[in-house]
Amino acid sequence: MHFKKLEEEDPKKLEAFQARIDAEERIEPKDWMPDAYRYHNIRQISQHAHSEVIGMQPEGNWLTRAPSLRSKKILLAKIQDEAGHGLYLYCAAETLGVSRDTYIQWLHEGKAKYSSIFNYPTLNWADMGAIGWLVDGAAIVNQVSLTRTSYGPYARAMVRICKEESFHQRQGYEIMTRMMNGTKEQRQMAQDALDRFWWPSLMMFGPHDTDSPRSKLALQWKIKRATNDELRQKFIDKTIPQAELIGLKIPDPELELQADGSYKTGEINWEEFYNVIKGNGPCNRERLAHHREAHARGAWVRKACTAFNEKYKGELVLN
Ligand code: 3HC
Repeated sequence: MHFKKLEEEDPKKLEAFQARIDAEERIEPKDWMPDAYRYHNIRQISQHAHSEVIGMQPEGNWLTRAPSLRSKKILLAKIQDEAGHGLYLYCAAETLGVSRDTYIQWLHEGKAKYSSIFNYPTLNWADMGAIGWLVDGAAIVNQVSLTRTSYGPYARAMVRICKEESFHQRQGYEIMTRMMNGTKEQRQMAQDALDRFWWPSLMMFGPHDTDSPRSKLALQWKIKRATNDELRQKFIDKTIPQAELIGLKIPDPELELQADGSYKTGEINWEEFYNVIKGNGPCNRERLAHHREAHARGAWVRKACTAFNEKYKGELVLN
């Protein structure tokens, strides 16, 4: 696929496009857009979709080991939601002219990323709480901002997804609350889960603004409505009081509540971050191998659905 560089585009068209963005107009699939805008969305939306689907793995690990039927049903519903989020996002990504098969191929070839957070192991039930509370909590902050992204299909997918994310965050926080009201061992498990997931959750928002090569154009084209650091700070300020309310301690010796009510934190381990997104995280290989194997195992379902569509295209009238 060839994407024109910005300097190769017709300046008049670029100017008219930017005027539409500045006028808060939504860009729709059939509208003219610079190839660089198209590619930026192809990259971000498909990686977002991959994250939703790969994110099902760490939680799927604990379905058969949930401590009660109630918690199993809740976790099942959450994981099923994530599959749906992946579906909405792949559909939005396909409106940009790339097929889902190609997106999956790019993922399998290591040409596409997914969120670093899903490359960490889930060691016990408290991790289900930490993921719902922190990972979905971080995702909500990012995704609420994306409900105003300039590309129409992406923004609309976000509206639907955000409605379900709040249930995800609440069910995670409920698990952490129940454990913090439990035995000493349960309280230690919850604190250990926070210790392991706190910093990787902050990494979900990406590098600092000064180190984010994509942000300048993303902000100019209103693909992003806030910077990585702004969204990260919003998440930090919202989450720390929640931790303290149930007796959890944020694993950051440099944490400081400032006069304006926001928190100053220590520095993220960026070496770990870039290592994980380069493919050297604790679970990167396992996550991709599982995805490849599940995709191969599901080939017959895709084949059957395609054959059915071919045979009955338009004939079926559901009364
Ligand atoms: N994990 C993996 N890659 C990351 C990353 C992370 N946490 N943060 C940044 N990156 C990558 C970017 O993709 C980019 O690489 P690329 O050019 O090869 O794509 C590079 O690091 C530089 O980062 P930038 O900040 O310059 O890139 P962006 O402007 O794209 O910002 C982002 C990164 C904030 C993650 C942005 O892409 C975004 O908002 N994406 C949509 C939201 C998303 O993908 N969330 C993932 C979690 S989904 C989830 O949690 C599901 C929930 O239901 C549990």
